[in-house]
Amino acid sequence: MPPNFKLQGHFILIFLAALRGESRYLEMQEAVGYDPLLLFNANLKRDLAGEQPYRRALRCLDMLSLPGQFTFTADQPQLHCAAFFIGEPQEFITIHYDLVSIDCQGGDFLKVFDGWILKGEKFPSSQDHPLPTMERYIDFCESGLIRRSIRSSQNVAMIFFRVHEPGNGFTLTIKMDSNLFPCNVISQTPNGRFTLVVPHQHRNCSFSIIYPVAIKISDLTLGHFHGLHLKRPPADCGEIGDFVELLGGTGLDPSKMMPLADLCYPFHGPAQMKIGCDNTVVRMVSSGKHINRVTFEYRQLEPSELENENGNSIPEFCLLSL
Ligand SMILES: *[C@@H]1O[C@H](CO)[C@@H](O)[C@H](O)[C@H]1NC(C)=O
Repeated sequence: MPPNFKLQGHFILIFLAALRGESRYLEMQEAVGYDPLLLFNANLKRDLAGEQPYRRALRCLDMLSLPGQFTFTADQPQLHCAAFFIGEPQEFITIHYDLVSIDCQGGDFLKVFDGWILKGEKFPSSQDHPLPTMERYIDFCESGLIRRSIRSSQNVAMIFFRVHEPGNGFTLTIKMDSNLFPCNVISQTPNGRFTLVVPHQHRNCSFSIIYPVAIKISDLTLGHFHGLHLKRPPADCGEIGDFVELLGGTGLDPSKMMPLADLCYPFHGPAQMKIGCDNTVVRMVSSGKHINRVTFEYRQLEPSELENENGNSIPEFCLLSL
């Protein structure tokens, strides 16, 4: 089970900065001690050095979007720590233990979670992840170095850890590997374009955008509509088997979000929607009988676009306009 994780102000700041698409910036800022000139130089050096691995210390609460080697060393007992990793949509994350010096008998732990958990909400949700929830936790204190390299099933992963003894800690190497058919994704950026393809797989895929966005679906192919099987759109997409839904909500877990629209017949021309929720998800449910594909573009809503007529704050239910 995950530790009962308390959100601290510091952590919220890191998390929000990262979710606002500044995670790469944050990394660099951290590495060079907040000097913009040094920041620029460091960027340049990194570009020139090319293959030089990126190294830095890991904090008790941290967020990483770059591959590299990261070392955590406790300077005091650290009991509630977590680090969130995020890659590009078409990347898996591999976490490799280079060195682990913790006291499992004494109550320390180091666990990888395949996805993200925040305030009890998981991404991907258990309906969308290929593994049962318990198998998504890999506990160093149980498996040791038998599982020295752990690869995530999508572009996000995290670790939880607790280290009592000052001086103890661990070193990890984070690598990104390419994923030909990304299924579950959290977008690192507030603006983008993506094509989700589910080729003959019985699985559900969620693409999550943690910003209020205008989203434009430009193309939808659901294999079962080759030919003219249908005289009119069905009343309920659930009867069809394969469909795309748009979800809105405030937490991470798509299964706890509100359905805003269902799309289960082919699309002609772009359809745009503005969704004022903190989190917007494009979710595809696939039976495995077909090749399904959806293409969409999204951009972050301006603050002025987020005000509704009654001056109420969102959600109501986040759906602002079509
Ligand atoms: C996909 O999600 C639907 C509900 O939206 C669920 O009924 C179904 O079991 C899920 N399929 C898989 C393969 O997990």
